[in-house]
Formats: sequence, C-alpha cells, structure tokens
Amino acid sequence: MAVVGAGPIEKLVTSSRPGRALAAKFVAGDTLDSAVETASSLNQEGFVVSFDLLGEAVTDVDSANAAADEYLECLDKIAADGIEANISIKPTQLGLAIDRDLAKEAVLRLGRRAGEIGTSVTIDMEDSRYTEGTVSLFEECQAVCGNLGIALQSYMRRTPADLGRLIPLGGHIRLCKGAYVETHDVAFTAKSDVDRAYADELRTLMAAATTKPAVATHDGALIDLARELAGRREHPFEFQMLYGVRPDLQKSLVEEGFEVRVYIPFGSHWYPYLTRRLAERPANAWFFARALVSRS
Ligand code: FDA
Repeated sequence: MAVVGAGPIEKLVTSSRPGRALAAKFVAGDTLDSAVETASSLNQEGFVVSFDLLGEAVTDVDSANAAADEYLECLDKIAADGIEANISIKPTQLGLAIDRDLAKEAVLRLGRRAGEIGTSVTIDMEDSRYTEGTVSLFEECQAVCGNLGIALQSYMRRTPADLGRLIPLGGHIRLCKGAYVETHDVAFTAKSDVDRAYADELRTLMAAATTKPAVATHDGALIDLARELAGRREHPFEFQMLYGVRPDLQKSLVEEGFEVRVYIPFGSHWYPYLTRRLAERPANAWFFARALVSRS
C-alpha cells in the first residue's frame, strides 16, 4: 500500500518489497480472510486471539463508520467460523478525535454484538491526548455492555489512579508498557521507571478479583513476576502478546498451560503500527535497511 500524501519514508517503506516483507513479520495480511486464516492456525496451536483492524486518527465520519462496519463483519466471521477471538479497537479509528458521540455509539454497537456472540471488546489506549476520553468511554460503555476491556499503559503517571477507578467496573484490563512518544510531565520516559511501574501495577491488577488481568508484555522478567503472582491468584488471567514478537515465548507459555492471546493486526493501514514496532526494537529497522541496501 503506497499512501497518497504520505512522507518519503512512509512511501519508501510501504511501496518497497523489503518494507512489505518487514510488515509481514508483524501484520497478518491486508484482508480479514488472511487474518482469519492466521487466527485459525493459532487456535489449533492452543492460542486465543484478538483481531485488530489497522487504522487510527480518522478525520471523517464516513471512515469512522466504515471501520465500525468492518469490525461488525469481523465479529460475524468470528461467530460463523467458531474462532476463539475477541476484537481490539482504537477509539480514534471510530471517530473519538472528531465526535465523541460517534465513537461511543460505535463502541456500544460493537460491545452489544460481541456480547451476542459470547465474546468481548478491548479498547486500545492511544497517545495521551486521548487517555481521559478513552477511560471515560470505557466507563460509560462498560456500564451498558459489561463485556469490555481497556488497555492501560505503565508509562503513564496516571495509571495507578486509573487502575483504582476501573478495576471495580469488571471486564478486563490489559496492562502494557505504552507505545507512543510521551513527555516527562505525563509519562515516565526512562525504561527502568516504566518497568518498575509495570511491576507495581501488575501486583495491583493480579490481586484484583473484579477484573480479568491481561498481562501484555514480552518482557521475560515481568512474565516471571506474573507467573509468581498467578500462583496466588484464584481468578482467571491471561497473557497477551503481539503477532510476530517472541513466538517461541508465546508457545512455551501455552505449553505451560497458560491462556495466551495473540494480538493479530490486519488491514492495509499498517504503517503507523509498524513504526511503533520498529521504535521498540531498532534491530527491526536494521533488517529493513539491510534488505533495502542489498537490493539497490
Ligand atoms: P520491552 O519493549 O521491554 O521488550 C521486551 C522484549 O520483548 C525485548 O527485549 C524484545 O526481546 C521483545 N520485543 C519487544 N518489542 C519487540 C518488537 N517490536 N520486535 C521484536 N521484539 C520485541 N501499547 C499501547 O500504547 N496501547 C495499546 O493499546 C497496546 N496494546 C498492546 C497489546 C498487546 C497484546 C501487547 C503485547 C502490546 C500492546 N501495546 C500497546 C504495546 C506495548 O505498549 C509495548 O510498546 C510493547 O509491547 C513492547 O513492550 P514490552 O512490554 O514487550 O517490553
């Protein structure tokens, strides 16, 4: 997918073969069918999954409605094919940045439909401009639907307060470190601080009976901590990891008997998602650069 109006780097990545090869490591194809194929084989290996239709920061009503419709189609497919899956949605893809009511209506529609087919919806957390809007959206929609979850980011200074606010509401809470560039006033910027905050928040979450913790990290030390806390936990929890990241670790957790949900991004708007994966691990960008140089 070469994007109209995209900058030169985005054009280089999205239109070159090495760029597409890199994307294929983290994205399960451009279409729902390709994502479903990936999901079915992961289900056979013992994983559950979450579908993420790529796209964010939508600026017009039609695109927001189209994203909601595609997610409804995804839920229909989950039901029709009997896939062990839920969906992960981004509030700005459903219109949060242009019209809060539009986004709320979409979350309610998706939550209700997911409830009818016996699954759930996780609201991803985007950058800090949308944190309060997303937390309050979850509060309002979870009160109606009851089957929603939300992602909280350990790098955000407000997360301990958000945990206190959201744990009593039920559903599930995905704890991740946070993938956006934030400033020191709202977020921890040193990795050691982010990791320490994650460990503290994980202890809080794993001690909570009213919500299902989703431990979303590939960090071995934090996974060991979750294992230890799991020994004292009487209620369900799950690990969550990204498609293409540490697949061996994902497999070994399933073999140990843990519930592991693989987050499966699909769709043609993969560039912003890919840049976040590159930022987390510069070696991924080197893979792309080397492939580009060796072709030219
Ligand atoms: P960390 O970055 O310390 O990585 C630990 C180890 O994992 C690394 O040493 C490396 O081995 C491996 N690893 C991590 N990232 C890698 C990559 N891209 N490529 C290859 N190896 C990699 N963020 C957000 O802001 N909002 C959200 O809603 C979500 N949702 C979400 C769902 C799920 C299921 C996961 C797993 C993650 C998210 N994230 C997210 C992303 C999250 O905030 C974070 O940016 C990444 O998970 C990377 O952080 P880790 O916890 O893995 O630790």
